[in-house]
Amino acid sequence: MNIAIIGSGGREHALAWKLQQSPSVKKILCLPGNPGTEKLAENIAVTIDNHEAIIDIFKQYAIDLAVIGPEMPLVDGLAGRIRDAGIRCFGPGKDAARIEGSKAFSKDFMKRHNIPTAEFRTFTKQEEYDAIRYLDELVMPVVIKASGLAAGKGVLITEDREEARDIVRAMLRGEAFQEAGSTIVIEEFLVGEEVSVFALCDGERFVILSPAQDHKKILDGDKGKNTGGMGAYAPAPIATDEMLEHVKEKIITPTVNGMREEGYPFIGCLYAGLIIAESGVKVLEYNCRLGDPETQVVLPLINDDLAEILYECAGGELSRSKIVMHDASAVCVVMASGGYPDKYKTGMKISGLQNIKEKDGVLVFHAGTKRDGESIVTAGGRVLGITAIGYKADLAGTIQAAYRAIEKITFDGAYYRSDIGYRAVGDK
Ligand code: AMP
Ligand code: GLY
Repeated sequence: MNIAIIGSGGREHALAWKLQQSPSVKKILCLPGNPGTEKLAENIAVTIDNHEAIIDIFKQYAIDLAVIGPEMPLVDGLAGRIRDAGIRCFGPGKDAARIEGSKAFSKDFMKRHNIPTAEFRTFTKQEEYDAIRYLDELVMPVVIKASGLAAGKGVLITEDREEARDIVRAMLRGEAFQEAGSTIVIEEFLVGEEVSVFALCDGERFVILSPAQDHKKILDGDKGKNTGGMGAYAPAPIATDEMLEHVKEKIITPTVNGMREEGYPFIGCLYAGLIIAESGVKVLEYNCRLGDPETQVVLPLINDDLAEILYECAGGELSRSKIVMHDASAVCVVMASGGYPDKYKTGMKISGLQNIKEKDGVLVFHAGTKRDGESIVTAGGRVLGITAIGYKADLAGTIQAAYRAIEKITFDGAYYRSDIGYRAVGDK
């Protein structure tokens, strides 16, 4: 089959790498892809919001399956457009993508279906007074979320009631996050460790991947600003088999069933962002796609035909109830541009990429890179994801392998966290 992957980050590079291992795959296109996908696929430059152009390209290349990486085109309805053109698509339609695109929708959905989540209320522009009153009822800290897409930056947590009021006003008045903040969710703060569980869904059935843990903060020890994700590892031992059974039964199954019953079956990757709170496992958020950088660690663990699984999901005919996994662990350390997630420079020449060999169990997934003549230069905040694969029983060894590899790559201002995986192994 011919597959097209939409997106240009580390997640999409990992998808291209894994999908090209499937015997049924003839050709892969990446739209637009990056210098890492270039060796595995044909990159085609196109702007992702040009749905018409994308479908023309798919027809020209006789694409059998489209896989959409990022949330924005999903929320914008690209999956439905692709299906309308008669092409299978692994990704939810516009209505189902609201599970990520609207936190108000997703929280109300969880309430309707008794899915465990933090206590909350939602408020619109007209309800500023009620929102401020609700803040007075809550114990601090409190969590305030812009309902719409805000590139991972729309969640604010504060212990200061006065600051909470200011945030609520700024969001509802459109001074922060524009339209994305015109509806907000205010919710109870939960304490616990986080874990991401991905379910590949066909609208009715699903299979889950290895549980992963992301590191969202820029600094060691989970300090500093939020980022898109500075590293990940899988499987996350905190999510035991027993816990995963519970998550499937109490969270994933009612979500998939509820979406179908409400008339928008979920086809694609349902990302459950979970917190293991004292009061039980709860959903912090859903995403309507694979996570980044979690994909870079969960896909290498699959010992099964991913292209076939995604093709079956996209056609509503998933035939497995389990995916075969390698007895392995994977760790991804993100190399970022100095200054990220604030201002950073681009155009820095990256050296040492040739020192990393897949046969040694290390993969380099490109994220924010660009070709400049013979060189590869930095072109984004998160530049590379250095991913080591090792024994499942030796996560500490896999972490060390990732850090040994990262030292072989350099660029001006490179920054990475030095404690990826620390929660699972005690320290670094
Ligand atoms: P979200 O985009 O909703 O996942 O929120 C981003 C991050 O904010 C999560 O990964 C958590 O670290 C944190 N967060 C969100 N909601 C809560 C909550 N109710 N209690 C504690 N932390 C939260
Ligand atoms: N790693 C977090 C996300 O993909 O949203």
